[in-house]
Amino acid sequence: MSPEEFRKYGHAVVDWVADYRQRIADLPVMAPVSPGQIKSLLPESPPDRPEPFEAILADLDRVVLPGLSLWQHPRFFGYFPANASLASVLGDFLSTGLGVIGLAWQSSPALTELEEVMTDWLRQMVGLSDAWSGVIQDTASTSTLVALLSARERSTDFGLAQGGLQAETKPLVVYVSAHSHSSVEKAALLAGFGRHNIRQIDHDASFAMIPDALETAIRSDVAAGKAPCAVVATTGTTTTTAIDPVEAIAAIARRHGLWLHVDAAMAGSAMILPECRWMWEGIENADSLVLNPHKWLGAAFDCSVYYVRDPEHLVRVMSTNPSYLQSSADGQVKNYRDWGLPLGRRFRALKLWFLIREQGVSGLQTRLRRDMENARWLADQVRASDGWRVLAPVPLQTVCVRHEPPGLSGEVLDRHTLAWVDRLNRSGFTYLTPAVLDGRWMVRIAIGAEPTERHHIQQTWAAIQAEVAADG
Ligand SMILES: Cc1ncc(COP(=O)(O)O)c(C=O)c1O
Repeated sequence: MSPEEFRKYGHAVVDWVADYRQRIADLPVMAPVSPGQIKSLLPESPPDRPEPFEAILADLDRVVLPGLSLWQHPRFFGYFPANASLASVLGDFLSTGLGVIGLAWQSSPALTELEEVMTDWLRQMVGLSDAWSGVIQDTASTSTLVALLSARERSTDFGLAQGGLQAETKPLVVYVSAHSHSSVEKAALLAGFGRHNIRQIDHDASFAMIPDALETAIRSDVAAGKAPCAVVATTGTTTTTAIDPVEAIAAIARRHGLWLHVDAAMAGSAMILPECRWMWEGIENADSLVLNPHKWLGAAFDCSVYYVRDPEHLVRVMSTNPSYLQSSADGQVKNYRDWGLPLGRRFRALKLWFLIREQGVSGLQTRLRRDMENARWLADQVRASDGWRVLAPVPLQTVCVRHEPPGLSGEVLDRHTLAWVDRLNRSGFTYLTPAVLDGRWMVRIAIGAEPTERHHIQQTWAAIQAEVAADG
């Protein structure tokens, strides 16, 4: 494709995306397709001859669009908000269009230095002290893996430079909450801790980790000859947005020499609101933390920011430094390849730069406050309605609900819940995600898509009630 053809079709693609965003509210929120339906529209083998680009673009409407669940839809309340704000979409597009790769500072100095400044802007926005240094990773899953690798190496005094985990005499233990995200368990498994050495600490009635239970578990492991290594606290758990008490957990971690990693993947965006910062009180005593601007904040996926207080430790864990990547600037610059797993890096800082400048911090704050007010409004409506319960506190933008008609309990209640939410999702009007809480199915309504206004919540609450009423 020549640059002139690129100009022509690039405009067509931008028009297509703009039209898609403009009419998104009229499209079904959940993809109305069955498994295999999209594959059946595609040829089994690649084309031997070049195809006209018009034909390729036409397939966006024919093949792709029907198979999309629409995260940017104003009545998308599934999973978590993952806003791809259009300014950040342009930053993402540019990152690809520029076609540069950050292997080292010298392989594209702007890529590295913009990332340094963007992670520092974000640090200031969420109220962290300047003791933190940030790096953009792909996802929170990667950030948490990096955190646990760093913890492992601190506990083993850089065992990786010798016999690794296989040479340790005592098993290293990681402490998590039963409500931490599955990526935390995955990271602990991949970092070599082993399932037997992952402790799930009890939670209280608000689904937050109980510090005393953590203390007891650590003591009992020490007594059993094990080596407590790391604890992962969550600010805003996935199921209910529960808030683990970071300050108390940090005090215990410090007392026993554990690494504290805080997973604020979703809720971290809310820390741009000073009134929300109580949620991670004590954060300055953590060793590492992750927040995902690709969730609620509005940076197009993928953009996860990992912060550490001791970047030298991180670099020592991650660096291999082959000769072909060394340069005369190495002493004066950051080489982000030594701040995580991959060597090659995309120019992700562009999408943060575009987002923050186009919205301004106050613009982002206004949107997040709107979403939290909408969540409080919905929770009030649900609480005031006969037969309905709000099942967890609503500190942020997720409301966990269940319709509990008299006489229904146990598996019958589960079937009722799954039936009404499934019918509603299939209707295409909205998208909610059911999840298990305390052994029973309930429905999460995760507010926070960029175009969602109060009337979309009102419509959805009316649709939920109508669906349940239709059940008799
Ligand atoms: C609290 C929490 N941590 C981690 C993750 C995983 O995020 P990622 O997809 O960036 O790995 C999620 C995603 O839902 C989450 O809610």
